Amino acid sequence: MTGISSEHNASTPAARRDPLGTQIRPAHYADAPAVGALLASALAPKYRPTLGRRAAEALTRIIGHELRASAHGYWVAERDAQVIGAAHLATVEDPPAVGVARRLAQVVGWTRTLWALAALSILSHGPLAEDEAYIGELAVASAARRQGVALMLMRHLDAQAAALGKSRVTLWVTDDNDAARALYVGLGFTEHSDRRWRLGRLIFKSRRAILMEKRLPGTVAP
Ligand SMILES: CC(C)(COP(=O)(O)OP(=O)(O)OC[C@H]1O[C@@H](n2cnc3c(N)ncnc32)[C@H](O)[C@@H]1OP(=O)(O)O)[C@@H](O)C(=O)NCCC(=O)NCCS
Repeated sequence: MTGISSEHNASTPAARRDPLGTQIRPAHYADAPAVGALLASALAPKYRPTLGRRAAEALTRIIGHELRASAHGYWVAERDAQVIGAAHLATVEDPPAVGVARRLAQVVGWTRTLWALAALSILSHGPLAEDEAYIGELAVASAARRQGVALMLMRHLDAQAAALGKSRVTLWVTDDNDAARALYVGLGFTEHSDRRWRLGRLIFKSRRAILMEKRLPGTVAP
């Protein structure tokens, strides 16, 4: 898990609100438990088989550490003082994540940590390009779905990526995730390549992971 620069967060215009009162804002340290619980629950097919039943706690530990640092790439959607959505945007300028294994091990033990890191590595995106902003996480609480919260988050991440001078946004999605794929296609993402994975099928119960990409307006393909 990586982050984006604090300067970027600091230069963000005033938080955006929708008619239902949803606000998109940078995540704070105090949000770590809510973000950890939301990601563990919404992304259970990814985190339950890897981090196990203490996934929420483990994610909270890692995210809390990142949010304590000045630079991170986490954003939340908040309504009525509740975190109802979360997303993470990464760029090549992010500081490297350090101490992840040790922090995970403090929660789930070393055996589970080594397993989780190995299993999650098959989902990893690899080194980011200079012109790329990568969405590593996106989740909306089940009670808040189909209300445009993900749309708000994604549009916000687009704006952040553009403000950072990036020309394209990338993400991975599994082929069985119809909701997310419909969301991304609606936003102008197209399929770039895919990974057919035997191991992924065993662990994450999906046949294929798809790399999707969206070129930001005003930029041209190299
Ligand atoms: C995918 C997810 C983030 C969508 O969040 P959301 O706030 O409900 O999405 P929105 O309300 O902004 O939906 C925007 C559009 O996306 C598409 N969409 C969203 N959910 C959909 C669903 N369940 N089925 C079909 N299309 C869907 C629709 O086109 C929708 O527009 P519409 O409601 O006008 O038809 C949410 O379902 C989620 O958290 N899922 C679990 C975590 C996950 O899969 N994250 C993505 C990992 S790659």
